Amino acid sequence: MIFNKTELAIDYQAEIIKLKEDLNAVILAHYYQQPEIQDIADFVGDSLELSRKAKSTNAEVIVFAGVHFMAETAKILNPEKTVLLPDLEAGCSLAEGCKKEDFEPFVKSHPDHIVITYINSTAEVKALSDIICTSSNAEKIIRQIPENQKIIFAPDKNLGKYLIKKTGREMLLWEGSCIVHETFSERKIIDLKVRNPKAKVIAHPECEERILFLADFIGSTSKLLQFVKEDSNDTYIVLTETGILHQMKKAVPEKTFIPAPVNDETCSCNECPYMKLNTMEKLYLCMKNRFPEIIIGQELRLKALKPIEKMLEMS
Ligand code: 13P
Ligand code: SF4
Repeated sequence: MIFNKTELAIDYQAEIIKLKEDLNAVILAHYYQQPEIQDIADFVGDSLELSRKAKSTNAEVIVFAGVHFMAETAKILNPEKTVLLPDLEAGCSLAEGCKKEDFEPFVKSHPDHIVITYINSTAEVKALSDIICTSSNAEKIIRQIPENQKIIFAPDKNLGKYLIKKTGREMLLWEGSCIVHETFSERKIIDLKVRNPKAKVIAHPECEERILFLADFIGSTSKLLQFVKEDSNDTYIVLTETGILHQMKKAVPEKTFIPAPVNDETCSCNECPYMKLNTMEKLYLCMKNRFPEIIIGQELRLKALKPIEKMLEMS
């Protein structure tokens, strides 16, 4: 039998909407997801907003269109719910650069330090931490730590350096970084600025110090989005993953957004290869098969839950 190609094509959008009903599921998506995934999601947000949504949802199934540490955080907060991630390989260079076996001895060798860990980390590393933070609440959390208390900040050294500068607090930093935010070209940003003198440069604090130095505004993804909505300028050079441009263009279509230029013209290095592993097809398949599912042991979950709850309390 000969099948017509169009007869075989699956309407992922329609199927996902149907499956959402059948499963009593909620789809949570990060701003770095592909536009069509953001558009089908029930909620699109930054790491903090997504954790809050994961905690408050009544749905039985949470489908996480994001990376592994985000889905894992949702499961830690919701042990009784099914948490699905379209692709289990959707990791993060920050989480991968901070393994429990290296981090544990580091923490143990500084017993007088409180451990503040960025949410971009594994459950095992969270379990070794006192407080979790995201890029939108890190400053607020650090400002609540008593002056004489020594601090370890992990795993993002760039965010850590930015926070030291912002708060004036000394912190011992773990040597991790985000592969996306480290690829932006200083020379090309300056070149863009010269050609677009009225454009404002807005940057995520995961960028290197020399890049942040060029920014007119620095903030988490949600803060960057809020800034372009409220600011009176009309052109922005956006120094973060390009996925956020979708919500920016939707919110203020009359404005111009220029994605962050990268060093290597042959690669799309301003796209997160982990975030972009998720596709509409994988989203559909994970809902259809209720797999891959995030599973976490109770002992580890309870240890990782404590610093996450502390974060939600302090932010
Ligand atoms: P936020 O959306 O919390 O700013 O985080 C950015 C990021 O890199 C997520 O992996
Ligand atoms: Fe991790 Fe960077 Fe990708 Fe965010 S953008 S998930 S920090 S690798």
